[in-house]
Amino acid sequence: MKEKIKIIMDCDTGSDDAIAIMMAILSEKIDLIGICTVAGNKALNYTTENTLAVVEALNSDVKVYAGCPESMVTKLLPTRRGSYSGFTGVKDEGDKEPEITYHHDHLPLPSPTRKAEKQNAVCWLIETLLTTEEKITMVVTGPMTNLAMALRIEPKIAENIKEIVFMGGGFKVFNATRCSEFNIWADPEAAQIVLTSGIKCTMVPLDATHKANFDYQDCKRLRAMNHFVTDAVALMIEQRIEAYDAYQPQAVLGSAPIHDALVVGYILQPKVLEEIKFMRVDVDFSGGMADGQTICDTRAYPDDERNCYVALGANNDLFHQQVFSLLEKVN
Ligand code: RIB
Ligand code: CA
Repeated sequence: MKEKIKIIMDCDTGSDDAIAIMMAILSEKIDLIGICTVAGNKALNYTTENTLAVVEALNSDVKVYAGCPESMVTKLLPTRRGSYSGFTGVKDEGDKEPEITYHHDHLPLPSPTRKAEKQNAVCWLIETLLTTEEKITMVVTGPMTNLAMALRIEPKIAENIKEIVFMGGGFKVFNATRCSEFNIWADPEAAQIVLTSGIKCTMVPLDATHKANFDYQDCKRLRAMNHFVTDAVALMIEQRIEAYDAYQPQAVLGSAPIHDALVVGYILQPKVLEEIKFMRVDVDFSGGMADGQTICDTRAYPDDERNCYVALGANNDLFHQQVFSLLEKVN
């Protein structure tokens, strides 16, 4: 049997992160070494608890490490960040949870009895990446705060990272603001640190994830699997569809992307991503109108060295086949 693919996930578990984690746990091709959590979709306590809920629901023994509760510097300047503009459905700290939202505070899974490990995710990342005997792929599905902090504290970890595959950024599709995607917008400096780390980066932006949406028919198929985990996935997707119809209507109404799961699809079969272009990508962290924008230089002679493989398309049928074939394994 082929060597398993060693990965560490870094998530702000939310609904689509949850599906990505399930796929990684259920796949026999993946050796999921650990899961780091970060603030993003929700405050760190929620993203950590939700991650534990997914791990426990699948009876996995993978360890969960809580990381940074805040972005690196975005909130230091009170004027830099107002509320989530144009990304309604994600609440600010302390706001009442909107009726229709992409992510509820708690996933529709039993509350976990397990706790996160005592060691902070950033310290665990450094220790693990310094001592591993084999290179590890980083799968990042939230703001990149943990990985950026680890790279700043101990740059040598880069030698043992095979590739960073991240859900984030937008080429022509945006959500958090008119020109940025949430994971990058939430911590632009962290994203710039990762993109200029010299490590192979593959970006799975909204342009790709919006080409592999799930719909109510897919939810029916999940419910037919008759398991509380797949029922939870169906409910999460139904809630996502409601939120997308309300706030980000898709080309086909009644459908929604499950962004983060596509990253795991790529780990398993890279051909699930299409129209991959190698380009120069930087992040605007000037705090102005374009704060958090992924600036993609597609010119023949970019100002700086190319540093990122950017997927602009996705194979919708293959992705659906991947998701269902893995979730059917839930027993
Ligand atoms: O913009 C979509 C991304 O932001 C997804 O990873 C979602 O979970 C949120 O983190
Ligand atoms: Ca996420």
